[in-house]
Amino acid sequence: MSTITETNLLSERLRALSESETLAMTKKARELAGQGHKVISLSVGEPDFQTPQHIKDAAKKAIDDGFTFYTPVPGTAELRQAIADKLKKENGLDYTAENIVVSTGAKQSIANVLLSIIDPGDEVIIFAPYWVSYVEMVKLAEGKSVIVEGTIENDYKVKPSDLEAAITPRTKAILFSSPCNPSGAVFSKEELTAIANIVAKNERIFVIADEIYEYINFEGSHFSIGSVSAIKDRVITVNGFSKGYAMTGWRVGYIGAPKWIAAACDKIQGQVTSGTCSIAQKAAYAAVTGDLSAAKEMAVAYKRRRDLVTGLLKEIPGVKVNVPQGAFYTFPDISSYIGKSYNGTVINKASDLAMYLLNEGHVSSVGGDAFGAPNCIRISFAASDENLKEALRRIKECLAKLK
Ligand SMILES: Cc1ncc(COP(=O)(O)O)c(C=O)c1O
Repeated sequence: MSTITETNLLSERLRALSESETLAMTKKARELAGQGHKVISLSVGEPDFQTPQHIKDAAKKAIDDGFTFYTPVPGTAELRQAIADKLKKENGLDYTAENIVVSTGAKQSIANVLLSIIDPGDEVIIFAPYWVSYVEMVKLAEGKSVIVEGTIENDYKVKPSDLEAAITPRTKAILFSSPCNPSGAVFSKEELTAIANIVAKNERIFVIADEIYEYINFEGSHFSIGSVSAIKDRVITVNGFSKGYAMTGWRVGYIGAPKWIAAACDKIQGQVTSGTCSIAQKAAYAAVTGDLSAAKEMAVAYKRRRDLVTGLLKEIPGVKVNVPQGAFYTFPDISSYIGKSYNGTVINKASDLAMYLLNEGHVSSVGGDAFGAPNCIRISFAASDENLKEALRRIKECLAKLK
């Protein structure tokens, strides 16, 4: 008879999940800071800005007005309508409130969708480098992730021919973010249309388009793949308030989707969390109906920091640098340092390098292994210019010690 341990009492579903590498780095960084070291954190995925004042005021008013009861599961009528209006005006998506489900962050939105459409063994094509949670959420839904890689030479974007080659009769969905976490790649209208043309030939395939970094776009205009009419009935557009409006803690995300998919997500959410926080929904309503000047100012600051960080990275020998077009991460290729060592610490993979930079230089980043790109590290530039300059100085110094 096998011994009962705490571990084998956990479900297989849970045991199959990996721990978030991002959170592991954050924990280690906190430990070092607790020991009195001046740690510069470039590992977290959140804006360093405050939520704009008019959004905070709307939340305060919601409390004072007693708006403290359960809301409908898919969100308040006013917020769903305002989101539908935004998606029509800015993204060319022809939705009504019934196409919208508001959730406790875009993270929950994506989980709802995957749990609604994936059966055990169904394949989900994920573009690498990818956001860490995609693969784990597919596991939770008992699906199989099929990774299609974009290389730094192609600005980390997947080639349509590689996507086409990965499609099998079990393919149920394609999942990616644009602007991309972790690479900062932004797919153009032409590139997304090429992807849409492939999807159009395969009637069983959904596209889950994660557009949470929409407003952090440095070069071109944002394009939503859901606006390609040939596949509009099979696209789920995911978005939210965390990144563009600096509202990570408020926990509001949403989907725009065909009504039957929205109804499925409503059903799942109704049994798990119900509607997201009533006060946060009032804040989100103020955000989506207000002007975008604060979001635009933040994007200008991120662009300046992008230029600062990529410029400093380019001065470091052996680092291949990409120039992110959106989001607030850069994803340099550090493979020339793999196999090197310093003081007995050997760098066998990107996460070893991230840990070395943290221990030796007190700068936290995240190894690309977690994002399906083991030659890279992710550096967030959602930090002050001074901290970024100092962090890059330390990174350069630490890398020079590796022989
Ligand atoms: C690509 C991507 N999608 C979704 C999310 C989740 O955002 P939210 O805070 O709305 O759950 C994140 C957060 O880091 C992200 O980077």
